[in-house]
Amino acid sequence: MSQKVRKILVTSALPYANGPIHIGHLVEYIQTDIWVRFQKMRGNQCIYVCADDAHGTPIMLRARQQGVEPEQLIDAMSIEHRADFAKFNVGFDNYHTTHSEENRFFANTIYRRNREKGHISMRTITQAYDPVEKMFLPDRFIKGECPKCGAKDQYGDNCEVCGASYSPSELINPVSSISGVTPEQRESEHHFFRLGDFETLLKQWTRGGHLQREVSNKLDEWFAAGLQEWDISRDAPYFGFEIPDHPGKYFYVWMDAPIGYMASFKNLCERTDGLEFDDFWRPDSDSELYHFIGKDIIYFHALFWPAMLHGADYRMPTAIFSHGFLTVDGLKMSKSRGTFITARSYLDHLNPEYLRYYFAAKLGSGVEDIDLNLEDFIARVNSDLVGKVVNIASRCAGFIRKRFDNMLADEISEPELLAHFSDAGAAIAELYETREFSRAVREIMMLADRANQYIDDRKPWVMAKEAGRDPELHAVCSMGLNLFRLLIGYLRPILPATAELAEAFLQVEPLTWDALSSPLTGHRIAEFKPLMTRAEQGQIDAMVADSKENLGVTQAVSKSNGRLAGDPINDNIEFPDFAKVDLRVVRIVRAEHVDGADKLLQLTLDLGGVTRNVFAGIKSAYAPEELEGRLTVMVANLAPRKMRFGISEGMVLAAGPGGKEIFLLAPDSGAEPGMRVK
Ligand code: 2FM
Ligand code: ZN
Repeated sequence: MSQKVRKILVTSALPYANGPIHIGHLVEYIQTDIWVRFQKMRGNQCIYVCADDAHGTPIMLRARQQGVEPEQLIDAMSIEHRADFAKFNVGFDNYHTTHSEENRFFANTIYRRNREKGHISMRTITQAYDPVEKMFLPDRFIKGECPKCGAKDQYGDNCEVCGASYSPSELINPVSSISGVTPEQRESEHHFFRLGDFETLLKQWTRGGHLQREVSNKLDEWFAAGLQEWDISRDAPYFGFEIPDHPGKYFYVWMDAPIGYMASFKNLCERTDGLEFDDFWRPDSDSELYHFIGKDIIYFHALFWPAMLHGADYRMPTAIFSHGFLTVDGLKMSKSRGTFITARSYLDHLNPEYLRYYFAAKLGSGVEDIDLNLEDFIARVNSDLVGKVVNIASRCAGFIRKRFDNMLADEISEPELLAHFSDAGAAIAELYETREFSRAVREIMMLADRANQYIDDRKPWVMAKEAGRDPELHAVCSMGLNLFRLLIGYLRPILPATAELAEAFLQVEPLTWDALSSPLTGHRIAEFKPLMTRAEQGQIDAMVADSKENLGVTQAVSKSNGRLAGDPINDNIEFPDFAKVDLRVVRIVRAEHVDGADKLLQLTLDLGGVTRNVFAGIKSAYAPEELEGRLTVMVANLAPRKMRFGISEGMVLAAGPGGKEIFLLAPDSGAEPGMRVK
């Protein structure tokens, strides 16, 4: 097959250099890696680059908290990230960092060229400033009381109690979550990228087949809302690149992050003969450029990025492939449930090939979220990979070794069956190309079923016992191993480590798509060694247990919103304050769902003749009917609070990590509604 060799450059989003890689990240790296491996198997020149996203305030503060320089923090993180990716067989051609000279060069170039064309403007804005830390505060580093419902300890942009959104200047009694002091409002001159200059270009580009359909639709909403100028500068202190000729001003982390794709590629070009940067980045380039990203960062990649590139005379992306988020057992990953699983804790317990397979079996070309159901995960891996695919080899290999000195038969005994398998390659390739991995997996597993059925029908184990049937036995087992070879070839982008073991067993070169169509005949194979073992429930249990965080610490960390002290105890209160709390035994006389609320139940509580209406965030743990009639304890003298769904007249007491594990306080059975709790 002589097709034109495509030149393809592929990226995944750059992970921040201040935290570990977790299984939520891995959806994207595994998805991208499968696609890249597929392209390489097709004989295309496909280059996969990535880097750590190393700049920004959170990284600067994290380093300060650890008492190290930001460079030390990001170097250590880079080593960890690379090791995790390598273990999951994510095969980057280069892994670089945004804190590099290549990136500084391209950030400056892109900024300068856009400025020369008038796409950068400057104006003075007013922002919250921490006079103790002597720094401007990003929204997430300001906390205060919600301007709508008065709830305390809310972030600078939205309220977790009533759901209102607002700007940080509207917060009541705002405090800096770094120093704890009240921020001042200060002026500073900022640099803005004039996105609106590119409206016509972007409208065309976003409808030009470069985006998934649902993403283009989302962009229509953003166009309708109007393209705002984008603030691309930050004041010192900041960990990033200083803007040329503007001492004390730095590029905002999101400005130089995507430029990191170019920097990583440039760094590779410098080490690789014949690889030319311009071949891939000049405006009329005939190479292809794809960015795999999560759906939360579409705005940056589908609007700012193409506009910045165009404004600086670089090519725009061929396409942007967005994917959804990962849930575990139907819920957001959670530290308290033990489902916030880092790459490390996964690797401590389970084979990375399982996760690659499971994600592939779930991924399509759209932006829907995918769910890792831990029970289904074990069932699927064991039944498909161990039970169907690997099993074919183990059913045939023993006879080939014992009876035929590891030599395969000289001829293919069932050419039609083999043709059925190799003909399927074209459709499977198309599914990989279009990122319909779950459908590719379905096709491959249907072939695996067919191969097992063939062996079941022929019964080599019966032939082996009957005199004179050796030629038949040889033919069937050789056929079985040829079918296995095709299946492993088709699964190779998903299961690179298993494919490598299978290639060693079959004594063949790394499989390519073209090579798959020529069968193995009169060929000596090696001794069979088990390619994969079963996944066990115990491994999952141990991984979840290792991932569970101690409740006290989790709450303190989220409450302090990154405050630099790691004290798990919240601020003390004096006894007289505690004594004011009126705790009462109550009976839950009615419990109901609240329309539009994910977490809340509406409770009617009897305090011994008086009833109270209380909204409680316990829906994940209790069905209303389980609660009616039960006794619990409430704070009876909490001032009524207006919530989105009505007024809450108190609070019931519960403890636990969250999710299904919220335990309502239950008084002794002798208690009566209305009793004071001492
Ligand atoms: O959202 C994130 O995790 C960012 N670090 C992604 C950056 S992708 C690219 F633009 F660099
Ligand atoms: Zn509120």
